[in-house]
Amino acid sequence: MTGQLAGKTAIVTGGASGIGLAITRLYLAEGAEVLAVDLQPFDAADLQASDKLARLLCDITTPDAADSIVAAVLSRFGKVDILVNNAGICLPGTVEDQTPESWLRTMEVNVTAPFMITRAVLPHMKLRGTGRIINLGSIMSDFGGPSLCAYGTSKHAVAGLTKSLSADLGKFGITANYLQPGAIMTPLAAPSMSDPAFRSYWEEKAPVGRIGEAHEVAAAALFLATDAASYVSGAGIKVCGGAISRF
Ligand SMILES: NC(=O)c1ccc[n+]([C@@H]2O[C@H](COP(=O)([O-])OP(=O)(O)OC[C@H]3O[C@@H](n4cnc5c(N)ncnc54)[C@H](O)[C@@H]3O)[C@@H](O)[C@H]2O)c1
Repeated sequence: MTGQLAGKTAIVTGGASGIGLAITRLYLAEGAEVLAVDLQPFDAADLQASDKLARLLCDITTPDAADSIVAAVLSRFGKVDILVNNAGICLPGTVEDQTPESWLRTMEVNVTAPFMITRAVLPHMKLRGTGRIINLGSIMSDFGGPSLCAYGTSKHAVAGLTKSLSADLGKFGITANYLQPGAIMTPLAAPSMSDPAFRSYWEEKAPVGRIGEAHEVAAAALFLATDAASYVSGAGIKVCGGAISRF
């Protein structure tokens, strides 16, 4: 590792599992200070204690979550440079069998919480004239998928939110981009991946011929956080093994 994020401070939501855990680990390895936020307890074996790591147990959809997250990062590290809105849920359903409750919960976690946390973080980034917002979209930000009515809609909204942020914030030195993973082996995807038909569908869709790994998405999240990405804003970066070419 080369210390590409030395001196930077990041918030990563959903940092206890899957892609968020991989991003947290990589950012720490690259020298960043990280506040990892999650609803579920952090496994000590996954994230070893370090003076550069703070953990906050919190449901990002609760009314005071955004302010608590900002208070936690400022009290521990004094600033915030990078916000990764990664926490997300996938509650499958077609338009007919998606319940209104599961629709609303999906929107709350995947769209409203990133909006609220971004709002809370922005004054601090604007004051310092620098910031990186990295949102987790999906290749479902571009396409519809079977039984992904609420999820697909939420990920299209993440793309829209990110483009709005990019348009409004560039003049303050803040960029906003979103990642578009394809099928990545994480706890979120594990139930579907255990179905051989689902798995082979995605292996077939991706020209590289396999399911992706969380660290491969983290690598793109690292790029977007580094100085190398200073002129990248409003972009959706696909990390999908080329699957996009087969929709
Ligand atoms: N795995 C994939 O194939 C895939 C593909 C495209 C996009 N994504 C996106 O990547 C992101 C991460 O997904 P993952 O696959 O790593 O999932 P995951 O389930 O492994 O991790 C998500 C984390 O978010 C946390 N979380 C969920 N709701 C929360 C809440 N209300 N408050 C706080 N934390 C909460 C969970 O506890 C979990 O630790 C999501 O936004 C997901 O939609 C994943």
